[in-house]
Amino acid sequence: MKARIAVLPGDGIGPEVTAEAVRVLEAVAASRGHELTLEHAPVGAAAMDLCGEPLPAATLATAKGADGVLFGAIGDPRYSDPSLKVRPEQSILGLRRELGLYANLRPVVPHPALYGASPLKDHLLEGVDIMVVRELTGGIYFGKKTSSDTDATDECRYTVVEIERIARVAGRLARARRGKITSVDKANVLETSRLWQRVVKRVVAAEFADCSLEHQLVDSATMHLLKRPRDFDVIVTENMFGDILTDEAAMLAGSLGLLPSASLGDGTRGLYEPIHGSAPDIAGRGIANPYGTILSAAMLLRHSLGLEAEAAAVERAVSQAITDGVLTGDLTARGVTPASTREAGSAVLERLAG
Ligand code: IPM
Ligand code: MN
Repeated sequence: MKARIAVLPGDGIGPEVTAEAVRVLEAVAASRGHELTLEHAPVGAAAMDLCGEPLPAATLATAKGADGVLFGAIGDPRYSDPSLKVRPEQSILGLRRELGLYANLRPVVPHPALYGASPLKDHLLEGVDIMVVRELTGGIYFGKKTSSDTDATDECRYTVVEIERIARVAGRLARARRGKITSVDKANVLETSRLWQRVVKRVVAAEFADCSLEHQLVDSATMHLLKRPRDFDVIVTENMFGDILTDEAAMLAGSLGLLPSASLGDGTRGLYEPIHGSAPDIAGRGIANPYGTILSAAMLLRHSLGLEAEAAAVERAVSQAITDGVLTGDLTARGVTPASTREAGSAVLERLAG
């Protein structure tokens, strides 16, 4: 097949980890006879340095013209002053909104070889396989904002349509998995959550009656995620709860550096990024974990290009590299020499070819 992929490496460790995912995509294309056209474009602080804005019109156009967007990370301590009006983070928020990417899929499947890297006990991690579906273009992230010297507000708003469509994404995923949906809200306090719960109930009853549905309050969900993570199948939740819950869930897998994500809308075009940030403290040293970005590229192959076999092959290659102990510093025990970003990428390429 032929496809166009926009590559937006961004800031910090973004370019390093993205480079490894690009090598994997190119290897997949070469070995399976696909023609992938990769177009690089600046985003985040890198774009602010180049042209003064985090999401230049040309970058947005490149993303819009692509079948899939591979995104690294954004964020830079030089632009972290709270008084700044223009910030790198606006780029990813703008991309999500402009591309209509309302559904963020974040799979969490701890690898048995990495149980020791998680703060949780092994017996709690066995059999954990969670898909978090985070609503991505609504809620408090995108509500009206005001700010003065004496107060500030962030409005949290949800519409029925926004909740219906994310509930359907969760339902379709649950049906193809173990058929269990956990909807997370704060319905004992928030109006948006009460609407959320009503709409999710109605959509699941009407369209996904073969799935089970439970509701959990977000505070208690954070606890259950640590206490009995195996009980979760699909978690569906609003924007900010999903942001917080997935960083917590990453600790089941052992490192933030391992988790991929797919941001999807109504069509097949999507944006794929690791859930970690730009990690400025280790940027430029070639030691960052590229697996989360490589696994994001696998999700791109699956969801935007329909290449399920290729996606699964990449996932197997990453899993095998982990089994074989090719681990970056975020995952190695004290005294063990960590693999570099490049070595980890090469380990995946070797196992893909083998
Ligand atoms: C994420 C990130 C972003 C978010 C930031 C960088 C805006 O934390 O993708 O989880 O909050 O959505
Ligand atoms: Mn986050």
